[in-house]
Amino acid sequence: MQTIAVILAGGTGSRMNAEIPKQFLTLDDGRTILEHSVYAFERNDIIDEICIVSHPDWIEKTKEIANQNGWQKVKHIVAGGSERYLSTLAAIECYIEDADEHFNIILHDAARPFVSQKTIIETVEACKQYGAAAAGIPSTDTIWQVNVFNSTIMRIPERSQMWQAQTPQAFRFDILRDAYQRALQDPQLAATDDCGVVAHYMPEIKIHIVKGSPDNIKITYKNDTKKQINPEQ
Ligand code: CTP
Repeated sequence: MQTIAVILAGGTGSRMNAEIPKQFLTLDDGRTILEHSVYAFERNDIIDEICIVSHPDWIEKTKEIANQNGWQKVKHIVAGGSERYLSTLAAIECYIEDADEHFNIILHDAARPFVSQKTIIETVEACKQYGAAAAGIPSTDTIWQVNVFNSTIMRIPERSQMWQAQTPQAFRFDILRDAYQRALQDPQLAATDDCGVVAHYMPEIKIHIVKGSPDNIKITYKNDTKKQINPEQ
């Protein structure tokens, strides 16, 4: 069964406060965050093809970067939307014609350049077995559910049951497509990742957890780009 990686690079990185979207900033080795993320999938034998979803204003730059790197697996570079789920939808639309075929889609935040080869492999293998799988780590902090309107704590769930969601997140294509089709009927749709869409709109699907790594951070604030690059990753 084929596995297609979707690298989501359509965001603006507003919390980074940089002049350009954070995925185009460079790390210490001179390569952009986007290049690190794409290369992690390009060099992994378990991945057959890559689709990059980029910010509409940065499509040409993304094509230039892809050409410079000579990435062989990158077959599509498409424009994302104003919300993350719209960027995922752009990738789904790219493959909707192939819907009769069985294949898996593994989605990854371009903003997580330190993803390990092990996490990619384990997520794909779990997806092949269960149909849906995602990387996450047990929460080291206690998590509060808060009332954002009056800044008070509403609930403190038991920490041992709290995990922090990461990417990659992988799904059989028909599961992802059907979950999004249902989600689009919902005027209240609000999701920060693809597991959120599948879990909410296809509760019958059990998403298998893969233990990720604390190194697989989502670069969000300025200091995050100072993290040491581990060549083993
Ligand atoms: N993303 C996307 N399309 C969007 C928003 C986000 O493809 N409309 C991607 C980002 O490029 C990133 C990942 O989804 O690789 C996670 O996004 P996140 O960092 O949470 O959002 P950003 O918009 O990039 O940053 P911020 O929330 O600080 O504005």
